[in-house]
Amino acid sequence: MSEKIIIFDTTLRDGEQAPGASLTSEQKTEVAYQLEKLGVDVIEAGFPVASPDDFNAVSIISRRIKNSAVCGLARCLGRDIDAAYNALKKAKHFRIHIFLATSKIHLKYKFKKAEDEIVSIAKRMTKMARNLCDDIEFSPEDATRTDRDFLFRVVEAAISKGARTINIPDTVGYSYPQEFSSIITGIFNNVSNINKAVISVHCHNDLGLAVANSLSAVLGGARQVHCTINGIGERAGNASLEEFVMALKTRKDVFGGFRTSINTKEIYRSSRLVSKLTGFVVPPNKAIVGRNAFRHEAGIHQDAILKKRTTYEIMDPKDIGLIKSELVLGKHSGRHALASRLKNLGFKLDKKRVEVVFKRFKDLADKKKEVFDDDLIALVEEETRQKRKVLEMVSVKVVTGTEIIPNATVKVKYKGKVYEFSSTGDGPVDACYRAIDKVIGRHAKLLTYKLDAITRGKDAQGMVSVEIKYGNRTASGKGSSTDILEASTKAYIDALNKII
Ligand code: KIV
Ligand code: ZN
Repeated sequence: MSEKIIIFDTTLRDGEQAPGASLTSEQKTEVAYQLEKLGVDVIEAGFPVASPDDFNAVSIISRRIKNSAVCGLARCLGRDIDAAYNALKKAKHFRIHIFLATSKIHLKYKFKKAEDEIVSIAKRMTKMARNLCDDIEFSPEDATRTDRDFLFRVVEAAISKGARTINIPDTVGYSYPQEFSSIITGIFNNVSNINKAVISVHCHNDLGLAVANSLSAVLGGARQVHCTINGIGERAGNASLEEFVMALKTRKDVFGGFRTSINTKEIYRSSRLVSKLTGFVVPPNKAIVGRNAFRHEAGIHQDAILKKRTTYEIMDPKDIGLIKSELVLGKHSGRHALASRLKNLGFKLDKKRVEVVFKRFKDLADKKKEVFDDDLIALVEEETRQKRKVLEMVSVKVVTGTEIIPNATVKVKYKGKVYEFSSTGDGPVDACYRAIDKVIGRHAKLLTYKLDAITRGKDAQGMVSVEIKYGNRTASGKGSSTDILEASTKAYIDALNKII
């Protein structure tokens, strides 16, 4: 019998903490439904005390999700634990996750508290949380930089007051595989009541070791792993769910004794959804879900793959729900072909939305000869972005060249009214953005701008991704079109829509 590794997904909490990744409650709920479908055991839905928006999202998700446990984060403070409980209490299964820093550096600079005080707070707050909820997870924050004996003491204290899961965070992504598994085995060997709790791990990717550390921890005895879709999270992110799960599945020779409840066929869809909603582009070379993860360029590789797929593919793309198509759509393709292709790509669209996408598809097919899967994905994503609109692009006209100052005229719909403004700029994109700023009456700062070709060929669509700062908030946005200035305008508007 294989042993189960509990998958604790923190895309909606640590993942959403990534700068620029913020999601609305509605978007978080959409992700939560997809995580449930993916089969994660626990969904960490947010940090309820952090803001009314977070509280609201956790309560909505708690009421809707039935098959995964819903978890809320709390510091070891009475008001945090109360907020978490109140947000979670309608859930079918819920968990409160409390955390308290234990490393010397945090004790000295963050808390100015002695070790004994930390142990007594851990005990008091675990007990308080346990009085509200049976399922308590305790995290000694910055565990990997904590003195080992002190770590064992805190862990024992939390278990003695009813913590059922002890999560060991590598908060700053400092550890490496051998060291991390020795911390886990150290806990098993030195904490007297460890048999009453499950050991979990939460790894950050600052040194690119989050997945390696998580796998190593499993070999050391951990039975729960925190991860996020596409590895998003604070700074360099968290252990990526898809990489961890597929490593376990692919390396049966090492991890054959373990299983997860993840339906791997939902991985690709989950990745697309999170990328689409956060605006975080998945790098083409990203393991498992990157655009190039299953593409073979070298002739020798292509030739060998045709003879035997496993010569250069250690995983079957179908296992992550990636159904490659030989079929390329064009302007003569009908609704049926489009609808069936969209279904294979994992989109569930009702008739009305298929109709909208079909119209956009026809416009696109008029501009470019062949419409590939990536074009279709971009079309559906563009259509979804257009749905959340306070601000909507109507048209854009740009006069530019090497010897003139670029001038853009942008027509937009803002709160139901159509406005047209013109502006010059340092370049054509800057001119478009300045014209939009005139509509909203305020300047948004462009932090990053990125242009990618969605498919190959001169007629390929461009995908623009931007990150902007508006007041003290940041947001990312995406826009696609065969015209890169139109794509740039849409991306800026998409980001602004998230803020205003
Ligand atoms: O990285 C960290 O330590 C955390 C804790 C809240 C578990 O995110
Ligand atoms: Zn974290």
